[in-house]
Amino acid sequence: MSDKYNDDIIEEEIQNEDDDNKYESEKFCTLCRRSEKQAGKMIDLPNNIHICSDCMQKSFDSMNQQMSSSNFNYNDLFNMPNISMIDLSSLQNPTQHQKVKPKKKEKKAEPVLDLKKIPAPHKIKATLDEYVIGQEHAKKVMSVAVYNHYKRVATDTMDDIAIEKSNMLMIGPTGCGKTYLVKTLAKLLDVPLAIADATSLTEAGYIGDDIESVVSKLLAAADNDVEKAEHGIIFIDEIDKIAKKKNTNQRDVSGEAVQQGMLKLLEGADVEVPIGANSKNAMVPLTTVNTRNILFICGGAFPDIEDIIKERLNKQASIGFYADLKDKYDNDPHLLEKVTVEDLRNFGMIPEFLGRLPIIFTLNGLDEDMMVKILSEPRNAILKQYQKLLALDEVKLEFDDGALHAIAAKAMEKDTGARALRAILEEYMLDIMYEIPKDDSIGEVIITKEYIEGTGGPQILLRGQEVPLLTENN
Ligand SMILES: Nc1ncnc2c1ncn2[C@@H]1O[C@H](COP(=O)(O)OP(=O)(O)OP(=O)(O)O)[C@@H](O)[C@H]1O
Ligand SMILES: [Mg+2]
Repeated sequence: MSDKYNDDIIEEEIQNEDDDNKYESEKFCTLCRRSEKQAGKMIDLPNNIHICSDCMQKSFDSMNQQMSSSNFNYNDLFNMPNISMIDLSSLQNPTQHQKVKPKKKEKKAEPVLDLKKIPAPHKIKATLDEYVIGQEHAKKVMSVAVYNHYKRVATDTMDDIAIEKSNMLMIGPTGCGKTYLVKTLAKLLDVPLAIADATSLTEAGYIGDDIESVVSKLLAAADNDVEKAEHGIIFIDEIDKIAKKKNTNQRDVSGEAVQQGMLKLLEGADVEVPIGANSKNAMVPLTTVNTRNILFICGGAFPDIEDIIKERLNKQASIGFYADLKDKYDNDPHLLEKVTVEDLRNFGMIPEFLGRLPIIFTLNGLDEDMMVKILSEPRNAILKQYQKLLALDEVKLEFDDGALHAIAAKAMEKDTGARALRAILEEYMLDIMYEIPKDDSIGEVIITKEYIEGTGGPQILLRGQEVPLLTENN
């Protein structure tokens, strides 16, 4: 009775399946991909797997064959024409294999910001010290601002006294470490950071990046996690390049208009940003990001702003009792520190823009001593990099003090900040890196002042010679 009942159910299922199949497309063999028309009747397995009788037979044949020989190799099991690599897991779940790998979501689970975990300003600065030489004031201002920013973000819901956001504007000559400082900071704090370049920004609708693209950069840096992005940092470099253009009759789409477009971002607004793209178009999904808790840091070299400062100071100084010599400020190394909002306005920044960047600070130009330190002291100092390279050849590389100062002096002449150091060093190290590997007996190279100044060569010590000579030096 029960058998009869079961048979009925099976028959019914087959009937149903046939009905379904009427609407389905043709079956294909999962192994050799031939259609039912070509390969004949298929054997159906669960999960939509069909195997033609040829393949089934071949499987069994090879299995029998392999079983009988002593070393049974499973890899040969599916060694059949038309089949290259078979992932057995795909047979169990054929549809899953085609799916795009989903974005990591585990990160979302942990709290985005934990007030206790934010390092105190002195700790942030101490870590910055390991990488960035000098710029004490800038490091201090940034450590405090970042610390406060995160305190503000973390207490947002607890406190009804709204703490103002402290967007920053940093000014400093080229190559003094502006970009480097922000990059280092972002590495230390585990927060998403987007570094955008103001030169490529234009008013919406014009060729170039929309202003809002800086927010989508941040969103990308936060793995498309809106909540995380809303607590991130956006660094806009080369901000001086969006100064108002002087004497122009055309619409200033990459200058003043960009400043105006940035106003609402700086202050805090809901912006619609495309996910995974730089510009909005019909094909890209949009999401809303609130910029209220995003810390904006703007940086720029502001070339020639010294002239504006000088002009202002001279004007003040030339009147009445306090009248001064006109060239008093010409060689003042601290001239930039005297910058005011008024000077920036004269440079071409609009007042509304400046008003939204309450913390304005300057970085010093580098002097020779700082250059020497930059060469040798930071964690990834250029000298350490060369020393490491030569150490791989078991050659010791030393620079004497005079050489370091000579390199720094040469870099100072170029007026491009610390960037010049690498270029100069590269020039002198070329011969050394070329010659040293030729001779296995060389154990140590000492770069001397004479070598840098072109009046002599480097000191080269052979292996075995190095110990007595070094003690002599000491
Ligand atoms: N104070 C510093 N301490 C250590 N390294 C520095 C310092 N200043 C500059 N450098 C080195 O010089 C390189 C160039 O500096 P950076 O990119 O920060 O210049 P910048 O101030 O952004 O100049 P620009 O205005 O031209 O963009 C850095 O990658 C870094 O290696
Ligand atoms: Mg820079």
